[in-house]
Amino acid sequence: MEPAAGPAPRPAGGTSPPAGTAAAPASPALATRQLAAGYGDVPVIHGVDLEVRAGQLVAVVGPNGAGKSTLLKAILGLARIMGGQVLADGNEVTGRPLEELVRLGVGYVPQVDDVFDPLKVSENLNMGGYLLGKDERATRMEEVLAIFPALRSRLNRYVGTMSGGERKMTAIARALMMSPRVLILDEPTAGLSAALTEAVLNDQVRTLADHGHAVLLVEQKAQAALRLADVASVLVQGQVAMSAAAAEVLASPQMAEVFLGGRAGQAKASEEAQVAGGANVAGGTSVARGTSVAGEAEVAEQ
Ligand SMILES: Nc1ncnc2c1ncn2[C@@H]1O[C@H](COP(=O)(O)OP(=O)(O)O)[C@@H](O)[C@H]1O
Ligand SMILES: [Mg+2]
Repeated sequence: MEPAAGPAPRPAGGTSPPAGTAAAPASPALATRQLAAGYGDVPVIHGVDLEVRAGQLVAVVGPNGAGKSTLLKAILGLARIMGGQVLADGNEVTGRPLEELVRLGVGYVPQVDDVFDPLKVSENLNMGGYLLGKDERATRMEEVLAIFPALRSRLNRYVGTMSGGERKMTAIARALMMSPRVLILDEPTAGLSAALTEAVLNDQVRTLADHGHAVLLVEQKAQAALRLADVASVLVQGQVAMSAAAAEVLASPQMAEVFLGGRAGQAKASEEAQVAGGANVAGGTSVARGTSVAGEAEVAEQ
């Protein structure tokens, strides 16, 4: 196995647009303003402000139960909005149903039920593009396969027979069929090994941002996400405890507090330590990256 090269370094803060593009547009591709939401009468998130721009990977990390999924569901019209706004390209879309958001260029990859196991990869992709005409769908599939070339040789595979990393790639590719400007991913590494986690985040999630998509990533595996993200918010008990350049969040004592502080935090910390190969959240040494080769090998093995 060759040593991993790792992704190219990016400017801290991630506010600059990808090379070769014009200056960042005035409106973020996706934003929330003081968003509050929950279920029934019970509020879960309180006054959350977020912004994701084209080419930017924004991570929302936080302990289990912090409200990360609820935040995404609120954006996607799947939780009850109790205040604030959701904006897509500067236009208010608060509480709009998911279908409508998809038409407006928002793609969503849920944590579970993101692919159809009894169907082939090609069939999953076609379903992702069901709103497109036949020719357009074929053209778009080629474009999606250019982003994830590893899927091309797997088009006739049944998704149920594939590995976790390949399934996630299929799920993301399926969401890409509608050419979303914004991609929202809820814990794409849930249930994956440490090596596959790195592979999915490096080779799939980061790739989306590098292709110009605005990517909003929710992850419980905070360190792994923060090593790749441009900007990050830490969600604690439904509120943003910290929002800054991802590298800054990774190195902050506040992160250590959130993940090493409480009992839930301690459990989380041991999981994080596995993902990070034992590096401590508070230590500046945990920024080393580049185990993506393991995931490529996994794809190549089959
Ligand atoms: N469908 C639901 N109905 C009622 N409460 C829910 C529902 N989904 C989540 N919750 C509650 O909202 C809180 C935040 O959950 P969630 O957003 O799933 O957190 P996270 O994704 O950060 O782990 C938890 O207390 C959870 O019990
Ligand atoms: Mg969740």
